[in-house]
Amino acid sequence: MLDYNELEGTVPSAISNCSSLVHLSAEGNGITGVIPAGIAALPKIQVINLSHNKLSGYLATSFFCNGSVYPPSLQIVQLGFNAFAEILHPQSSRCFSSLRVLDIQHNQIHGDFPFFLTDNSALSSLDLSGNLFSGTIPSSIGNLLRLEQLRIGNNSFEGNIPASLSSLSSLITLDLSGNNLSGKIPENLTVLPKLVNFNVSNNKLEGQIPVKLGYHFNDPSDFSGNQGLCGEPLNRKCERTGNGKNRLIMFIAVSASGGLLLASCCCFYIYALLRWRRKLKEKAAGEKKHSPARVSSRTSGSRGSGNNAGPKLVMFNNRITVAETIEATREFDEENVLSRTRHGVLFKACYSDGMLLSICRLPDRSLDENTFRKEAESLGRVKHRNLTVLRGYYAGPPDLRLLAYDYMPNGNLATLLQEASHQDGGHVLNWPMRHLVALGIARGLAFLHAASIIHGDVKPQNVLFDADFEAHLSDFGLDKLTVATPAEPSSSTSIGTIGYVAPEATLTGEATRQSDIYSFGIVLLELLTGKKSLMFSQDEDIVKWVKRQLQRGQISELLEPGLLELDPESSEWEEFLLGVKVGLLCTAPDPLDRPTMTDTVFMLEGCRVDQISLS
Ligand SMILES: *[C@@H]1O[C@H](CO)[C@@H](O)[C@H](O)[C@H]1NC(C)=O
Ligand SMILES: *[C@@H]1O[C@H](CO)[C@@H](O)[C@H](O)[C@H]1NC(C)=O
Ligand SMILES: *[C@@H]1O[C@H](CO)[C@@H](O)[C@H](O)[C@H]1NC(C)=O
Repeated sequence: MLDYNELEGTVPSAISNCSSLVHLSAEGNGITGVIPAGIAALPKIQVINLSHNKLSGYLATSFFCNGSVYPPSLQIVQLGFNAFAEILHPQSSRCFSSLRVLDIQHNQIHGDFPFFLTDNSALSSLDLSGNLFSGTIPSSIGNLLRLEQLRIGNNSFEGNIPASLSSLSSLITLDLSGNNLSGKIPENLTVLPKLVNFNVSNNKLEGQIPVKLGYHFNDPSDFSGNQGLCGEPLNRKCERTGNGKNRLIMFIAVSASGGLLLASCCCFYIYALLRWRRKLKEKAAGEKKHSPARVSSRTSGSRGSGNNAGPKLVMFNNRITVAETIEATREFDEENVLSRTRHGVLFKACYSDGMLLSICRLPDRSLDENTFRKEAESLGRVKHRNLTVLRGYYAGPPDLRLLAYDYMPNGNLATLLQEASHQDGGHVLNWPMRHLVALGIARGLAFLHAASIIHGDVKPQNVLFDADFEAHLSDFGLDKLTVATPAEPSSSTSIGTIGYVAPEATLTGEATRQSDIYSFGIVLLELLTGKKSLMFSQDEDIVKWVKRQLQRGQISELLEPGLLELDPESSEWEEFLLGVKVGLLCTAPDPLDRPTMTDTVFMLEGCRVDQISLS
């Protein structure tokens, strides 16, 4: 703590050697210059407070997000009242994944709303006020579900106030004052339950202030300075327009204590609702006669009664019938089989409109329908760019149990590695690509572990590639959807596949986070060396082999043909060796010695200083 002293000069770059620094605070001094990039590498830093100084230059990438390296622990950043001029958007929104508080008020930062922040669901307080930001407020701001304080006043934001702000149910403070915002105040904002401070003064807003909002926030200075606004609490009557009648009804509903009117309104409403439902039922019944396999579209949440229509595939987004699905897989034809997993058989489904899906057929009647639906609904909520995401499911006659996934056109890692080892044909898997694949798998698995899901069978066959060659970990979370007997005899069991199972899991028969990490380590070593873990005999395995090569100094032996062009002098070579070391750490014989997946992601991200994009 060095607050309110008379420190001057710049932040010493040696600070990046304080690897155990947790809280850096030097508020209210005369510190000048830029923040040294090395702070980005401090592994434990949680709080950085350098408000009220004279810092300048670029913010963000130069500071708390240095390339792909970022402190995973950083939670609070306070840099208000300095002279920063620009905020650089990071290459990865994950740079901010742990950030809870960002206060950069009263600088001279210009440019667009830092929209990358809207990916950060942990953010609870954002203060951008008193800068030179311009452009519109992105509607993706509605993603920040934990946001409690939003202060963006005194900038030059323009455009409408996004209605998506009404999703921010934790919001306590909303200050949009002193911008160039136009249009009406969304009626929607009335629903924010915790809102205590609200200020939209000094903008170009127009139209009527939503009645409830004006009732709740009755200080005129919250709304003043908007030429076109009218209604309470501004003492300005709104002019009659076409929907004056609606307002009259509203007025009566709100102010008249005549319960009679309200009651009769209610009666009418209920009546209308009943009629509407009846109509819907009739319609459904009519359609049922024509096509028994009607499809319904739905978004998410739990199913209602659901028994008043024919069998339907419950899709989270699309509309597909069971009949179409059976046709698209050519009645589950052998030729459409993509793979057989420990849980079921994966089919390629080509629909007549050109859509492709992967349909996983689980053993028929494997689980009663209701339990199946419940489990599938919860699995559908597990979403990450490095996982195969469940898009829909079906449980019903003729005793089918289906799961629908995105189709992954580029096969799996096992095939890819095999192709790459035949030098002339197939894809050449260069180092940047291998690194990205490793990172993708690691991120997917870290996400599963964070969601308390054990994968239980990490192996190259379960790493699938989408059209952009982004890796997606597949075949997880299905234990609860199937009964003990597997669909097809296979070498994999509930603890994984031979060659990838951790030694302790073989003994205990139980898959754990640590055994997942072991399997990941094997996959990583395979990915780096191109050696198949199954190629080894009883007393040797890939881990021992890699260690021996390292000890003998025969490192070039580790290289797989696709990587032969790596120059032992280059930085890529060092990165490769770092990757190998991460693989060895993950496969430590003692489960307690293995790093967590979060640590692993962090180490792998550090493996490459400059992220090279695939395309
Ligand atoms: C609002 O926009 C006008 C031009 O449309 C500009 O002159 C004015 O400076 C802007 N005000 C603010 C606060 O950005
Ligand atoms: C209210 O906000 C939601 C998003 O939160 C939006 O989908 C809906 O259309 C809005 N309703 C109105 C009347 O603007
Ligand atoms: C709303 O903001 C304006 C301008 O920033 C300020 O003058 C006014 O006092 C604020 N209203 C309240 C109730 O804080």
